[in-house]
Amino acid sequence: MKPKLSDFREEVMKGLLSTPKRISPKFFYDEVGSQIFEEITQLSEYYPTRAELEILETCRDDIGKVIGERATVVELGSGSGRKGLILLGGLIKPAEFVFVDISAEALKSAINLVQSQFPHIQVKAICADYTRTDVLEQMNIFGRKGIVFLGSTIGNMEPDEARDFISGCRRLLSIGETLTIGVDLKKDRNVLERAYNDSKGVTARFNLNLISRINRELGAGIPEGAFIHRAFYNENEGRIEMHLESTRKQTFVIGGKEVKFEKGESIHTENSYKYSIDEFSAMLKEAGFNQIKFWQDSGKRYALFSSTV
Ligand code: SAH
Ligand code: AVI
Repeated sequence: MKPKLSDFREEVMKGLLSTPKRISPKFFYDEVGSQIFEEITQLSEYYPTRAELEILETCRDDIGKVIGERATVVELGSGSGRKGLILLGGLIKPAEFVFVDISAEALKSAINLVQSQFPHIQVKAICADYTRTDVLEQMNIFGRKGIVFLGSTIGNMEPDEARDFISGCRRLLSIGETLTIGVDLKKDRNVLERAYNDSKGVTARFNLNLISRINRELGAGIPEGAFIHRAFYNENEGRIEMHLESTRKQTFVIGGKEVKFEKGESIHTENSYKYSIDEFSAMLKEAGFNQIKFWQDSGKRYALFSSTV
Protein backbone atom coordinates (compact mmCIF):
# COMPACT_ATOMS: atom_id res chain seq x y z
CA MET A 1 0.00 0.00 0.00
CA LYS A 2 3.02 2.34 0.31
CA PRO A 3 2.72 5.20 -2.26
CA LYS A 4 5.04 4.50 -5.19
CA LEU A 5 8.25 6.38 -6.16
CA SER A 6 6.69 6.89 -9.63
CA ASP A 7 3.85 8.94 -8.03
CA PHE A 8 6.46 11.23 -6.46
CA ARG A 9 8.41 11.58 -9.74
CA GLU A 10 5.31 12.23 -11.85
CA GLU A 11 3.71 14.73 -9.49
CA VAL A 12 6.95 16.61 -8.76
CA MET A 13 7.84 16.87 -12.46
CA LYS A 14 4.33 18.10 -13.33
CA GLY A 15 4.55 20.74 -10.59
CA LEU A 16 8.06 21.91 -11.56
CA LEU A 17 7.17 22.22 -15.24
CA SER A 18 4.04 24.31 -14.56
CA THR A 19 3.85 28.06 -13.94
CA PRO A 20 4.01 29.03 -11.12
CA LYS A 21 5.99 26.04 -9.87
CA ARG A 22 4.45 24.03 -7.05
CA ILE A 23 4.80 20.75 -5.17
CA SER A 24 2.11 19.20 -2.93
CA PRO A 25 2.84 19.37 0.82
CA LYS A 26 2.02 15.66 1.09
CA PHE A 27 5.59 15.05 -0.19
CA PHE A 28 7.14 16.63 2.92
CA TYR A 29 6.54 13.42 4.85
CA ASP A 30 9.29 10.96 3.98
CA GLU A 31 11.17 9.42 6.93
CA VAL A 32 13.29 12.55 7.50
CA GLY A 33 10.36 14.94 6.95
CA SER A 34 8.12 13.09 9.42
CA GLN A 35 10.87 13.38 12.03
CA ILE A 36 11.34 17.10 11.35
CA PHE A 37 7.57 17.61 11.64
CA GLU A 38 7.72 16.05 15.12
CA GLU A 39 10.43 18.62 16.01
CA ILE A 40 8.12 21.40 14.75
CA THR A 41 5.40 20.22 17.13
CA GLN A 42 7.80 20.82 20.08
CA LEU A 43 8.68 24.41 19.09
CA SER A 44 7.60 27.24 21.38
CA GLU A 45 6.42 29.26 18.33
CA TYR A 46 4.33 26.42 16.84
CA TYR A 47 1.20 26.73 19.02
CA PRO A 48 -1.29 24.53 17.01
CA THR A 49 -0.04 21.22 18.44
CA ARG A 50 -0.11 22.42 22.06
CA ALA A 51 -3.53 24.02 21.58
CA GLU A 52 -5.00 20.84 20.11
CA LEU A 53 -3.40 18.64 22.78
CA GLU A 54 -4.95 20.89 25.44
CA ILE A 55 -8.40 20.44 23.86
CA LEU A 56 -7.97 16.66 23.52
CA GLU A 57 -6.78 16.26 27.08
CA THR A 58 -9.58 18.41 28.52
CA CYS A 59 -12.44 17.22 26.30
CA ARG A 60 -11.59 13.62 25.33
CA ASP A 61 -14.54 12.19 27.32
CA ASP A 62 -16.99 14.59 25.65
CA ILE A 63 -15.52 13.76 22.24
CA GLY A 64 -15.76 10.04 23.07
CA LYS A 65 -19.46 10.46 23.91
CA VAL A 66 -20.14 12.25 20.63
CA ILE A 67 -18.34 9.51 18.65
CA GLY A 68 -20.36 6.91 20.56
CA GLU A 69 -19.97 3.35 21.85
CA ARG A 70 -18.19 0.52 20.02
CA ALA A 71 -17.08 2.70 17.14
CA THR A 72 -14.38 1.93 14.61
CA VAL A 73 -12.39 5.15 14.61
CA VAL A 74 -10.36 6.02 11.50
CA GLU A 75 -7.71 8.69 12.02
CA LEU A 76 -6.50 10.29 8.79
CA GLY A 77 -2.95 11.73 8.64
CA SER A 78 -2.27 10.37 12.10
CA GLY A 79 1.48 11.15 12.21
CA SER A 80 3.16 9.89 15.40
CA GLY A 81 -0.17 8.68 16.87
CA ARG A 82 0.25 10.81 19.99
CA LYS A 83 -3.13 12.52 19.57
CA GLY A 84 -4.94 9.30 18.63
CA LEU A 85 -3.64 7.82 21.87
CA ILE A 86 -5.26 10.59 23.94
CA LEU A 87 -8.50 10.27 21.99
CA LEU A 88 -8.53 6.51 22.59
CA GLY A 89 -8.55 7.19 26.33
CA GLY A 90 -11.96 8.90 25.93
CA LEU A 91 -13.59 6.35 23.58
CA ILE A 92 -16.29 4.07 24.97
CA LYS A 93 -15.48 0.39 24.25
CA PRO A 94 -13.92 1.13 20.83
CA ALA A 95 -14.21 -1.67 18.25
CA GLU A 96 -11.03 -0.77 16.36
CA PHE A 97 -8.64 2.16 15.78
CA VAL A 98 -7.39 2.59 12.20
CA PHE A 99 -4.44 4.86 11.40
CA VAL A 100 -4.16 6.14 7.82
CA ASP A 101 -1.02 7.99 6.72
CA ILE A 102 1.10 8.44 3.61
CA SER A 103 4.23 7.92 5.72
CA ALA A 104 5.06 4.29 6.56
CA GLU A 105 7.52 5.48 9.24
CA ALA A 106 4.87 7.58 11.01
CA LEU A 107 2.49 4.60 10.95
CA LYS A 108 5.06 2.33 12.57
CA SER A 109 5.51 4.70 15.50
CA ALA A 110 1.73 5.22 15.84
CA ILE A 111 1.06 1.46 16.01
CA ASN A 112 3.90 0.88 18.49
CA LEU A 113 2.75 3.73 20.70
CA VAL A 114 -0.89 2.64 20.86
CA GLN A 115 -0.15 -1.07 21.26
CA SER A 116 2.22 -0.36 24.14
CA GLN A 117 -0.49 1.57 26.02
CA PHE A 118 -3.65 -0.27 24.90
CA PRO A 119 -2.53 -3.85 24.18
CA HIS A 120 -6.13 -5.15 24.04
CA ILE A 121 -7.45 -2.69 21.48
CA GLN A 122 -7.51 -3.77 17.85
CA VAL A 123 -5.30 -1.41 15.85
CA LYS A 124 -4.76 -1.27 12.08
CA ALA A 125 -2.46 0.83 9.84
CA ILE A 126 -3.14 1.79 6.24
CA CYS A 127 -0.37 3.48 4.26
CA ALA A 128 -2.20 5.49 1.62
CA ASP A 129 -3.07 8.91 0.23
CA TYR A 130 -6.38 9.80 1.91
CA THR A 131 -7.33 12.25 -0.85
CA ARG A 132 -7.95 9.24 -3.08
CA THR A 133 -11.60 8.59 -2.35
CA ASP A 134 -11.35 4.84 -2.93
CA VAL A 135 -9.05 4.54 0.10
CA LEU A 136 -11.89 5.35 2.49
CA GLU A 137 -14.55 3.56 0.48
CA GLN A 138 -12.59 0.29 0.42
CA MET A 139 -12.26 0.08 4.17
CA ASN A 140 -15.55 -1.84 4.50
CA ILE A 141 -16.21 -0.98 8.10
CA PHE A 142 -19.12 -2.76 9.75
CA GLY A 143 -20.86 -1.07 12.67
CA ARG A 144 -20.54 2.49 13.93
CA LYS A 145 -17.77 4.67 12.42
CA GLY A 146 -15.99 7.84 13.45
CA ILE A 147 -13.61 9.72 11.14
CA VAL A 148 -10.95 11.88 12.81
CA PHE A 149 -8.68 14.38 11.05
CA LEU A 150 -6.46 16.29 13.45
CA GLY A 151 -3.53 18.73 13.35
CA SER A 152 -5.39 21.27 11.14
CA THR A 153 -4.14 19.26 8.16
CA ILE A 154 -7.48 20.21 6.52
CA GLY A 155 -5.85 23.68 6.25
CA ASN A 156 -3.29 22.25 3.81
CA MET A 157 -6.09 21.66 1.28
CA GLU A 158 -7.53 24.41 -0.92
CA PRO A 159 -10.96 25.47 0.46
CA ASP A 160 -12.72 23.77 -2.50
CA GLU A 161 -10.76 20.58 -1.91
CA ALA A 162 -11.56 20.80 1.80
CA ARG A 163 -15.27 21.12 0.95
CA ASP A 164 -15.11 18.09 -1.36
CA PHE A 165 -13.15 16.17 1.25
CA ILE A 166 -15.69 16.93 3.99
CA SER A 167 -18.56 15.98 1.63
CA GLY A 168 -16.69 12.76 0.78
CA CYS A 169 -16.43 11.94 4.49
CA ARG A 170 -20.10 12.82 4.95
CA ARG A 171 -21.09 10.30 2.25
CA LEU A 172 -19.22 7.54 4.09
CA LEU A 173 -21.06 8.20 7.34
CA SER A 174 -24.52 6.99 8.35
CA ILE A 175 -27.03 8.75 10.59
CA GLY A 176 -25.59 9.31 14.06
CA GLU A 177 -21.93 8.94 12.96
CA THR A 178 -19.35 11.71 13.32
CA LEU A 179 -16.48 13.52 11.68
CA THR A 180 -13.99 15.17 14.09
CA ILE A 181 -11.68 17.81 12.60
CA GLY A 182 -9.02 20.09 14.13
CA VAL A 183 -8.88 23.60 12.68
CA ASP A 184 -6.38 26.41 13.22
CA LEU A 185 -8.13 29.77 13.58
CA LYS A 186 -7.48 33.18 12.01
CA LYS A 187 -5.43 35.39 14.31
CA ASP A 188 -2.76 38.08 14.55
CA ARG A 189 -0.33 37.98 11.60
CA ASN A 190 2.75 38.08 13.87
CA VAL A 191 1.70 35.00 15.83
CA LEU A 192 1.02 33.13 12.58
CA GLU A 193 4.24 34.19 10.86
CA ARG A 194 6.38 33.29 13.89
CA ALA A 195 4.88 29.79 13.92
CA TYR A 196 6.20 29.21 10.36
CA ASN A 197 9.52 31.11 10.77
CA ASP A 198 10.78 29.65 14.03
CA SER A 199 13.99 30.91 15.55
CA LYS A 200 15.71 27.49 15.43
CA GLY A 201 15.12 27.17 11.69
CA VAL A 202 13.30 23.82 12.05
CA THR A 203 10.47 24.85 9.67
CA ALA A 204 13.11 25.95 7.16
CA ARG A 205 14.71 22.48 7.41
CA PHE A 206 11.26 20.89 6.96
CA ASN A 207 10.66 22.89 3.77
CA LEU A 208 14.20 22.40 2.41
CA ASN A 209 14.00 18.64 3.04
CA LEU A 210 11.84 18.58 -0.09
CA ILE A 211 14.95 19.59 -2.10
CA SER A 212 16.98 16.86 -0.35
CA ARG A 213 14.19 14.39 -1.14
CA ILE A 214 14.25 15.40 -4.83
CA ASN A 215 18.03 14.88 -4.78
CA ARG A 216 17.75 11.53 -2.99
CA GLU A 217 14.88 10.07 -5.01
CA LEU A 218 15.19 11.80 -8.40
CA GLY A 219 18.99 12.14 -8.51
CA ALA A 220 18.85 15.91 -9.07
CA GLY A 221 22.13 17.11 -7.50
CA ILE A 222 20.75 20.48 -6.33
CA PRO A 223 23.47 22.03 -4.12
CA GLU A 224 22.89 23.45 -0.64
CA GLY A 225 22.10 27.17 -0.76
CA ALA A 226 20.29 26.98 -4.12
CA PHE A 227 16.94 27.65 -2.35
CA ILE A 228 15.84 29.38 0.83
CA HIS A 229 12.72 28.97 2.99
CA ARG A 230 10.03 31.69 2.79
CA ALA A 231 6.79 31.74 4.80
CA PHE A 232 4.28 34.58 5.15
CA TYR A 233 0.62 35.22 5.91
CA ASN A 234 -1.46 36.06 2.85
CA GLU A 235 -4.31 37.84 4.62
CA ASN A 236 -6.53 38.17 1.53
CA GLU A 237 -6.53 34.40 1.10
CA GLY A 238 -6.48 33.67 4.86
CA ARG A 239 -3.49 31.37 4.52
CA ILE A 240 0.15 30.93 5.43
CA GLU A 241 2.14 30.29 2.25
CA MET A 242 5.41 28.38 2.25
CA HIS A 243 7.80 28.67 -0.67
CA LEU A 244 11.29 27.51 -1.64
CA GLU A 245 12.86 30.54 -3.26
CA SER A 246 15.66 30.25 -5.81
CA THR A 247 18.72 32.25 -4.66
CA ARG A 248 20.01 32.71 -8.25
CA LYS A 249 19.23 32.10 -11.90
CA GLN A 250 19.92 28.37 -12.27
CA THR A 251 19.04 25.24 -14.24
CA PHE A 252 18.89 21.65 -12.97
CA VAL A 253 18.29 18.30 -14.58
CA ILE A 254 15.52 16.74 -12.49
CA GLY A 255 13.93 13.40 -13.39
CA GLY A 256 15.71 13.58 -16.77
CA LYS A 257 14.27 17.03 -17.67
CA GLU A 258 15.80 20.52 -17.57
CA VAL A 259 14.11 22.80 -15.03
CA LYS A 260 15.02 26.52 -15.13
CA PHE A 261 14.70 28.97 -12.24
CA GLU A 262 14.96 32.76 -12.27
CA LYS A 263 16.56 34.45 -9.25
CA GLY A 264 13.74 34.94 -6.67
CA GLU A 265 11.40 32.51 -8.45
CA SER A 266 9.77 30.12 -6.04
CA ILE A 267 8.31 26.66 -5.72
CA HIS A 268 5.06 26.99 -3.76
CA THR A 269 5.22 24.07 -1.34
CA GLU A 270 2.37 24.60 1.12
CA ASN A 271 -0.71 26.60 2.00
CA SER A 272 -2.00 26.44 5.53
CA TYR A 273 -5.50 27.95 5.56
CA LYS A 274 -6.83 29.47 8.76
CA TYR A 275 -10.60 29.64 9.33
CA SER A 276 -12.97 31.45 11.66
CA ILE A 277 -15.43 29.39 13.70
CA ASP A 278 -18.27 30.69 11.50
CA GLU A 279 -16.48 29.95 8.23
CA PHE A 280 -15.73 26.37 9.21
CA SER A 281 -19.18 25.73 10.71
CA ALA A 282 -20.70 26.92 7.41
CA MET A 283 -18.52 24.45 5.47
CA LEU A 284 -19.69 21.58 7.68
CA LYS A 285 -23.34 22.60 7.34
CA GLU A 286 -23.03 22.90 3.55
CA ALA A 287 -21.71 19.33 3.48
CA GLY A 288 -24.83 18.09 5.28
CA PHE A 289 -23.77 17.89 8.90
CA ASN A 290 -26.55 19.21 11.09
CA GLN A 291 -25.32 18.72 14.66
CA ILE A 292 -22.06 20.59 15.08
CA LYS A 293 -20.17 20.82 18.38
CA PHE A 294 -16.83 22.50 18.87
CA TRP A 295 -14.26 22.96 21.62
CA GLN A 296 -11.51 25.57 21.86
CA ASP A 297 -8.23 25.86 23.78
CA SER A 298 -7.98 28.43 26.57
CA GLY A 299 -6.16 30.88 24.23
CA LYS A 300 -8.95 30.50 21.59
CA ARG A 301 -6.31 29.91 18.93
CA TYR A 302 -7.62 26.57 17.72
CA ALA A 303 -10.90 24.62 17.47
CA LEU A 304 -11.86 20.97 17.35
CA PHE A 305 -15.19 20.30 15.61
CA SER A 306 -17.20 17.09 15.99
CA SER A 307 -20.07 17.00 13.52
CA THR A 308 -22.74 14.35 13.47
CA VAL A 309 -24.85 13.34 10.48
N1 SAH B 1 -2.19 14.46 12.88
C1 SAH B 1 -0.81 14.61 13.31
C2 SAH B 1 0.18 14.80 12.14
C3 SAH B 1 -0.04 16.05 11.33
S1 SAH B 1 1.20 16.23 10.07
C4 SAH B 1 -0.71 15.78 14.26
O1 SAH B 1 -1.68 16.49 14.39
O2 SAH B 1 0.35 15.98 14.85
C5 SAH B 1 0.31 15.71 8.67
C6 SAH B 1 0.25 14.18 8.58
O3 SAH B 1 -0.57 13.83 7.48
C7 SAH B 1 1.62 13.55 8.33
O4 SAH B 1 1.79 12.43 9.17
C8 SAH B 1 1.59 13.17 6.86
O5 SAH B 1 2.39 12.04 6.56
C9 SAH B 1 0.11 12.92 6.63
N2 SAH B 1 -0.35 13.24 5.28
C10 SAH B 1 -0.21 14.42 4.61
N3 SAH B 1 -0.82 14.36 3.41
C11 SAH B 1 -1.36 13.10 3.32
C12 SAH B 1 -2.14 12.42 2.33
N4 SAH B 1 -2.48 13.02 1.20
N5 SAH B 1 -2.53 11.15 2.60
C13 SAH B 1 -2.20 10.52 3.76
N6 SAH B 1 -1.47 11.12 4.73
C14 SAH B 1 -1.06 12.39 4.52
C1 AVI C 1 0.38 19.41 9.05
N1 AVI C 1 0.09 20.83 8.81
C2 AVI C 1 -1.21 21.20 9.36
C3 AVI C 1 1.16 21.74 9.25
C4 AVI C 1 0.69 23.20 9.11
O1 AVI C 1 0.81 23.93 10.08
O2 AVI C 1 0.18 23.57 8.04
C5 AVI C 1 2.44 21.51 8.48
C6 AVI C 1 3.48 22.53 8.77
N2 AVI C 1 4.07 23.28 7.87
C7 AVI C 1 4.93 24.07 8.47
N3 AVI C 1 4.88 23.87 9.76
C8 AVI C 1 3.98 22.89 9.99
